Amino acid sequence: MIPDEIVERVRSAADIVEIVSEFVPLKRSGGTWRGPCPFHQGKNPNFAVSPSHGSYHCFVCHESGDVFTFLRKRLGMDWPSAVKYVGEKVGIEVIDAPRRVQAPDPNLPNHEALAAAAEWFQRQLLDESVGRAAREYLQQRRLDAQAWHRFALGFAPRDPQLLRRYLHSLGYDDARQLEAGLLVLREGETEPRGRFRGRVMFPIHDELGRPVGFGGRAMGDDTPKYLNSPESAVFQKRRTLYGLHTAKQAMRRVARAIVVEGYLDAIRLALAGIEEVVAPLGTALTEDQAQLLVRYAPEVFLLYDSDEAGQKATFRSGLELLRAKATVRVVTLPEGEDPDSFVRDRGRAAMEAQLGSAIDLLDRQVQLLERRGWFADLRHRRTAIDKLLPTIRAAKDPLTRDLYLARLADATHLDKATILAEAESLPDPERRRAPGGRRDGTPGDVELGDWEPPPFEGPLSEYGREPLVPSPVPLPPPQPGGARVPGKGRRWKNQGPEWHATAVPPRPRRDEPVERALVRAMLGDRGVAERVAERHPPEAFRDAAYRELFGALLSSPLDDDLERIADRLSSESLRVMRELTEGSPYDVEAADIGLSLSKLDARVLEARIDEIREAMRTATREAQDQLMTERLELEAELRRLLPIRSPRTKPRG
Ligand code: UTP
Ligand code: MN
Repeated sequence: MIPDEIVERVRSAADIVEIVSEFVPLKRSGGTWRGPCPFHQGKNPNFAVSPSHGSYHCFVCHESGDVFTFLRKRLGMDWPSAVKYVGEKVGIEVIDAPRRVQAPDPNLPNHEALAAAAEWFQRQLLDESVGRAAREYLQQRRLDAQAWHRFALGFAPRDPQLLRRYLHSLGYDDARQLEAGLLVLREGETEPRGRFRGRVMFPIHDELGRPVGFGGRAMGDDTPKYLNSPESAVFQKRRTLYGLHTAKQAMRRVARAIVVEGYLDAIRLALAGIEEVVAPLGTALTEDQAQLLVRYAPEVFLLYDSDEAGQKATFRSGLELLRAKATVRVVTLPEGEDPDSFVRDRGRAAMEAQLGSAIDLLDRQVQLLERRGWFADLRHRRTAIDKLLPTIRAAKDPLTRDLYLARLADATHLDKATILAEAESLPDPERRRAPGGRRDGTPGDVELGDWEPPPFEGPLSEYGREPLVPSPVPLPPPQPGGARVPGKGRRWKNQGPEWHATAVPPRPRRDEPVERALVRAMLGDRGVAERVAERHPPEAFRDAAYRELFGALLSSPLDDDLERIADRLSSESLRVMRELTEGSPYDVEAADIGLSLSKLDARVLEARIDEIREAMRTATREAQDQLMTERLELEAELRRLLPIRSPRTKPRG
């Protein structure tokens, strides 16, 4: 007999989608996964697996059950074997199973040694005197005891022999400890010593939650800042993502994954309740990591530090994800921030707002180029296109590729076929790797890996040179008590609306390009106001001046001339009206009013999607499934409206 309590633990830890997928090809469909039914040998996707309920059901033959039923009925396992089989997958020991279904894992002793070490590091952190400095360090970084516990943080004392002796006492010899990466043998020395000394320890787990290594953070200025376990039989950095074992359920639930750079970034987001977050163990994602991620979520948000290294890693990772057929969005944090500091000081809602205004990878690249004037004239446009071709080439998903071609055609006024021909005229440089899997540094690779807009030399854009790191949404002020951590550098120097100003725009910038375009059209042709009002009333406009202008135009008789209307306007709206009616007469034919209206429609959908994202976090399981279905419908509608969601911060006018 297996105790009920163990059965329950195994059942709730089990990832039913993962287990069923070993036998049935499944594809996500809303909150559930679908495939051909293995029980009646169906060909159509009538077999549904629900990760939130931990169950499966066939709509044709009505077979249904949980993960254990599946293994029993499908593989003929007996009950104890099924529980044991799943138990091994989720790392819960199931006693009293009569026979094993798998050969013993040769890596088990390594996992065990690492688990013992992790547990020992945790105890050192909690030890009154040994762990004092480490506890102080963590507290000063605003991680409390609950966080240490949840992420199994520990401390490796300076003495290089303590852990070694402890592990000896448990029966792990030097060879084992060396293999697990816990000891190092220095050249010319005979006695191995502990690898981690005087560091705060972050255990790293594999997808199934088994310990595979550590990241050790220096508490002072020691180098390296983070010392990581070496590659080993159980620890392959290019296949490992920090936090994946806990993030994966959340990723499936909310259908998105967030990638951050560091351990602490991942921890901070998870503590704030944004749990679908992982960190690669370097800076950019590898091919393996990208493929791992898309198994859990179709949409990946890249949330890197706002520095130059972060931007490079963003595009390198983004291309890897496009090759794995993910949808990729880029989140840009204010200068000087990383996700850790941002969430710590401004809270979760501010981070959700940043995520909500993430823009598609290609759009972000176009945006950076546009900001620097690279689309302003023909001479520069050529270079701009060259910079964007690698992204087109990386997009392996045919639909994404087509949308990207359309987007680029739109931005460059070339046709899709020309761009496609250009993209395909070159070999796929991203696959060229030097031995050892490193990029070989050919020009093609540099172009790809280290994507950045070429230095500005073109004409200024309408508002002068734009800041490099715009704030997509208004940021709330830092929360009280948001004192910066000593040594973490220049946090609030540029706080407030000016924080990003690399150059002060000559005129106040109005941020709603769609509203601007429509109001300009209304000023040119009063019939447009009526047309817009059929779908969106003036109150739907976010910008106060555009809203006022729209309202004024709508409520005044058609034969009132603009000067008459001007009399009733506030001075700011009047200024905006003058600005919009200056220069060339407005060409209503050329203005794509239909597209602008679609963008307004999209805004309404996006607002609802944001609400759903928020609601998902607190909803019951049933409600979550419903919300998810609604969200997928909204997103489909959104894609229909706007092939690629236009970034909410995008071009003027
Ligand atoms: P960061 O230097 O951005 O670290 O490196 P961080 O997470 O912000 O750390 P704090 O806030 O300064 O403590 C990002 C990631 O790169 C890896 C680690 O995985 C780290 O989390 N890294 C960084 C190393 O492996 N070694 C290093 O020396 C530095
Ligand atoms: Mn960082």
